[in-house]
Amino acid sequence: MEILRTIESYRELYVDLQGPIGLVPTLGGVHEGHLSLVDAAKKDCKTIVSWLFLNPKQFGPNEDLNSYPAEEKEDISLLDQRGVDILLIPKTIDIYPSDFDTVVKLGKITELLEGSRRPGHFDGVTTIVSKMFNIIQPDRAYFGEKDAQQLRVIQKMVKDLNFPVEIISCPTVRDNDGLALSSRNKYLSIVERNDALSLYQGLHNAKASFENGERNADIVRNVVIQEIKKSPLITIDYVSLSDPLSLVEISGKITPPALLSLAVHIGKTHLIDNVLLE
Ligand code: PAF
Repeated sequence: MEILRTIESYRELYVDLQGPIGLVPTLGGVHEGHLSLVDAAKKDCKTIVSWLFLNPKQFGPNEDLNSYPAEEKEDISLLDQRGVDILLIPKTIDIYPSDFDTVVKLGKITELLEGSRRPGHFDGVTTIVSKMFNIIQPDRAYFGEKDAQQLRVIQKMVKDLNFPVEIISCPTVRDNDGLALSSRNKYLSIVERNDALSLYQGLHNAKASFENGERNADIVRNVVIQEIKKSPLITIDYVSLSDPLSLVEISGKITPPALLSLAVHIGKTHLIDNVLLE
C-alpha cells in the first residue's frame, strides 16, 4: 500500500491509476465495518483508495474530537492488510488552510435526527466529503448503512450538486451479540457495553413486531424505547421512524420502507444504530 501525505502526491499518481477507482473514507479508529467497505470496493474496482482524516469540522465543541480513538499505525496496518492500494492521510493545514472559508451546506435533511442534536455536524461532513471527492476523484465511494443519515445526506449532495461519483451503501457490520461496530465502542466499559446490547435488541424486537403485522408507528417506536429503558446507563436522544429518503418522521400508519433509527448516550459515549423496515 502506498501511503501519501500530500494532495499533490496523490494528483501525481492519479493520472496513471487504473479505474474504476473505489474510495473508502475513514476518520480513523478503523474496524471491521470499514474493512467490509474495502472488501466491497475490491469486488468492483481496480484501484482502492482510502482516506484517513480526523475531520475537526464535523465535531461540535463538546464532542470527542480530542479523544477519538484513532491509532494511525494500527489503522494503516489494517487497511494495508485488507488490500487498500493507496492511502491518503492529508494534513489538517492542507485541508483547512488559515484562509479556508467555504461551507457545503444541505437543507432540511441535515436539520433532523443527528442534525438536531449536533448542530453543524453535517455541514462539516458535506464540506469534507466534497473536498475528498474533488481530491480523490473516485468512480465509486463506499459508505456504511450504520450512519444512515450521513449516507442519505451524501447521496442527496451528490445528486443535488451532480458529483460524478456513485455512492455505494454497505450493510452495518455487527459483533456476534448484535452490537453495531463503531469506533466509539472502544470508549465503553464492560458494563456499558452490556447495556448497549439493548440498542440492537430494541430494533430487532421492533422489526419483529413490524414483520408480524404491526403498522402503528408509535407502537413500533415504543417497542425500542421500552427495551432500551431496561438499561439503566442509557439516555435516549431519539428513537425515530422516518421516511428513508427524506427522513421526515412517520406518524400514524407505516407504509414501508421505513427507517427505524436511534441515538443514545451511554455515559459520555454517543451511539447510533438503525434497521430498515421493508
Ligand atoms: O463516516 C466517517 O467516517 C466520516 O464522517 C467521513 C465520511 C470519513 C467524513 O469525515
